[in-house]
Amino acid sequence: MSKKRVRHHVNPLSDRSEYSFAGFGNDRPIIVDIGADRGEFTQGLLDLHGDRYNFLVLEIRKPLAQRLMERFADNENVAVFAGDAVRNLRALLNDAITVDGASVEMIYVNFPDPWFKDRHHKRRVICERLITDVRTWMPRGISWTYQTDQKQLFDDTVVLLMQSGVENIVYFDASPHGIQTKWEQAKMAAGDSIYRMRFALT
Ligand SMILES: C[S@@+](CC[C@H](N)C(=O)[O-])C[C@H]1O[C@@H](n2cnc3c(N)ncnc32)[C@H](O)[C@@H]1O
Repeated sequence: MSKKRVRHHVNPLSDRSEYSFAGFGNDRPIIVDIGADRGEFTQGLLDLHGDRYNFLVLEIRKPLAQRLMERFADNENVAVFAGDAVRNLRALLNDAITVDGASVEMIYVNFPDPWFKDRHHKRRVICERLITDVRTWMPRGISWTYQTDQKQLFDDTVVLLMQSGVENIVYFDASPHGIQTKWEQAKMAAGDSIYRMRFALT
């Protein structure tokens, strides 16, 4: 029998964990890593310029989130939450923005689960629900970086953004900051193409 490990997607709509977060207690800019897996990308950013930023890390798989909490336990400027980013983004950023006066430097969505079936599109991280919600509360102009090896997902997301009136999509070729995520390394080693863009939900 094959021992190949099968990784099932976690249905974010079934995870109803809700959090609030009192913020980091300072106004350093915040970098958000949605779907951080084992945290290699966050770690890379920390290594580059950790003391200039605070990091909000979200991972819906509880065991992975637990490991992330352990990995970053000694980093006061990293907060890890185990739950659905779409459901929790507002509550997690609210106090940091409105009380601490922090800005959000970048929100990274690196290699999100593709959710191919039409009826599953609402489970994607960048979905109508997120776009509509974010526009009700997030300060304008915050940049999102989105990377995937899934061309159909990428194309669908571009169409969704454009249909939602987003006109500022910038496509780019290289890993941000030269930091390859775990998923990116695996896909590049397999010779797959990577699709990348930045945009703001204005
Ligand atoms: C394909 S992996 C990519 C991991 C990592 N970003 C990388 O590039 O190596 C996608 C990750 O996103 C997480 N994830 C999927 N949907 C999520 C959501 N709605 N909120 C938070 N994490 C999510 C998954 O559990 C998984 O760890």
